[in-house]
Amino acid sequence: MLSLIRTIPDYPKPGIQFRDITPLLQDKQGFAAMLDALAAHCSLMQVDKVVAVEARGFIIGAALAARLGAGFVPVRKPGKLPAQTIKQSYSLEYGTDTLELHADAIQANERILLVDDLIATGGTALAAVALIRQLGGLVTQAAFIIDLPDLGGMQHLANAGVQGFALYQFE
Ligand code: PRP
Ligand code: ADE
Repeated sequence: MLSLIRTIPDYPKPGIQFRDITPLLQDKQGFAAMLDALAAHCSLMQVDKVVAVEARGFIIGAALAARLGAGFVPVRKPGKLPAQTIKQSYSLEYGTDTLELHADAIQANERILLVDDLIATGGTALAAVALIRQLGGLVTQAAFIIDLPDLGGMQHLANAGVQGFALYQFE
């Protein structure tokens, strides 16, 4: 499965080693095995809703939510959600952005699993955690395919009270 994640040097900016999951997604055995592994890790969790971040997070989050029998909630880039939203700005390994969540997407005390394809600095995940908590959601667990530990995102998540899990680590 690891061999189905390829590295594209200097994308989207010089110096970034981009970890590309599209070969994994297009491989029927690899895709299923990846979802099986994430679902196995999450199998003992009580999850009401999976929250995932546009765009790559949707691919993993929606499929995992279906396997866990949970609802799915999209966190989107600005201007994409049609109803009333709450917003959170954050910084990325290669820039800054804002995330939005529908104000009625999460009810107080719902148990939320945060899902994304990759955690780097943790800026995206922490912004999503802030949005979830603003609506009263309980988020203590997060799942990823890839962690880039050198960038410290998992530690930042842990400092915010969220235990992260990733299938693979890349330097
Ligand atoms: C990527 C990735 C994570 C985020 C991780 O998304 O899918 O969401 O970066 O980086 P961080 O831990 O430093 O915040 P990106 O913003 O590139 O958007 P995309 O999914 O639309 O490609
Ligand atoms: N998102 C943030 N950093 C990334 C990287 N190095 N590869 C793929 N997606 C990313």
